[in-house]
Amino acid sequence: MVYYTVKGNTGKIAKTIAETTQLPMERLLKDKPVDIGAHEYIFFGAPVYNEHFPKAVLQYGRNQRWSGKKVAIFSTNIGWKDKQAIDEFAQIIASKGAHVVSILSIQNRGVMSWTVGFGKLTEAEYEKARKWALEIQPKLLRTEDLR
Ligand SMILES: Cc1cc2nc3c(=O)[nH]c(=O)nc-3n(C[C@H](O)[C@H](O)[C@H](O)COP(=O)(O)O)c2cc1C
Repeated sequence: MVYYTVKGNTGKIAKTIAETTQLPMERLLKDKPVDIGAHEYIFFGAPVYNEHFPKAVLQYGRNQRWSGKKVAIFSTNIGWKDKQAIDEFAQIIASKGAHVVSILSIQNRGVMSWTVGFGKLTEAEYEKARKWALEIQPKLLRTEDLR
């Protein structure tokens, strides 16, 4: 499971998914890309900033070898152009041969501000992430061709 986080929200959901799926967490950093070569399937998480995934994430999408990888994408955001941002990333990796199996967008409740914590994830959101991970992991593990 690979994730990118600026303020920690996506990291918290990533931790929930890692615990649920028993997958190791690998944090992607701007100057430290995670090599996905060894993974057959990947849960991939990122936040939405200014209507896009962060530049480092989009660049990572363009630079990794996604061919044949099954990917489930999750994001935290406040629900503004989130689908568009996720689809943008999904299309980048799909154009490099990834099979995007599922997408989950998780919203923070509350006020977005630089000082007041970027909204808050409630227990309902963690539960949504757990349910999704449990439902999707078997689909990622399945070996038949996905189209
Ligand atoms: C400057 C800024 C811009 C943001 N832009 C968007 C946006 O365009 N769409 C959206 O849905 N959420 C937006 N958000 C909310 C973040 O996506 C949300 O707080 C997310 O959970 C942050 O993830 P992180 O804590 O993993 O960095 C923005 C937040 C900030 C601070």
